[in-house]
Amino acid sequence: MTTILIVYGSTTGNTETVASMLEKQLAAKGLKITCKNVTDTPVDELKSYGLLLLGCSTWGEDEIELQDDFIPFYEALDTTVLKGRKIAVFGCGDSSYTYFCGAVDAIEDKVKASGGKLLIEGLKVDGEPGDARKEILDWADELAAAL
Ligand SMILES: Cc1cc2nc3c(=O)[nH]c(=O)nc-3n(C[C@H](O)[C@H](O)[C@H](O)COP(=O)(O)O)c2cc1C
Repeated sequence: MTTILIVYGSTTGNTETVASMLEKQLAAKGLKITCKNVTDTPVDELKSYGLLLLGCSTWGEDEIELQDDFIPFYEALDTTVLKGRKIAVFGCGDSSYTYFCGAVDAIEDKVKASGGKLLIEGLKVDGEPGDARKEILDWADELAAAL
């Protein structure tokens, strides 16, 4: 069975909430899943899992900034961990900003450049996760179907 690791970086808890919703939805399908804060996850640990779900919110005003905790993790991501690995990306943002969920795009770009395999299009949550419940659970279902 594919082992799944969710790693998230979250400042005010929104992306953490999405990570937890995804974890529950995927676990309910009998999938083996681990969910961790990026602050507790050395990059090398990614090699132990078949599917990675990378979650990061977007900050900054005139340019894309990844969530603070996620920045060193993002910088350490390279072909040794990403090449050939199945990955999907999610994150929270606010569509009133120029780069809505730009962190999701930045991580997806790095995955593609490093030979990772994006299983489905990234999930971009606008505003409160509770208001996007259906979108989040549908994304988890789409992901499970793509495995
Ligand atoms: C100063 C500031 C800058 C932000 N910049 C962006 C941005 O460029 N793009 C975006 O989509 N959201 C932006 N946001 C919205 C946050 O990403 C959003 O509040 C998100 O839910 C935070 O998720 P987190 O609690 O998981 O960190 C910004 C919020 C603040 C307060």
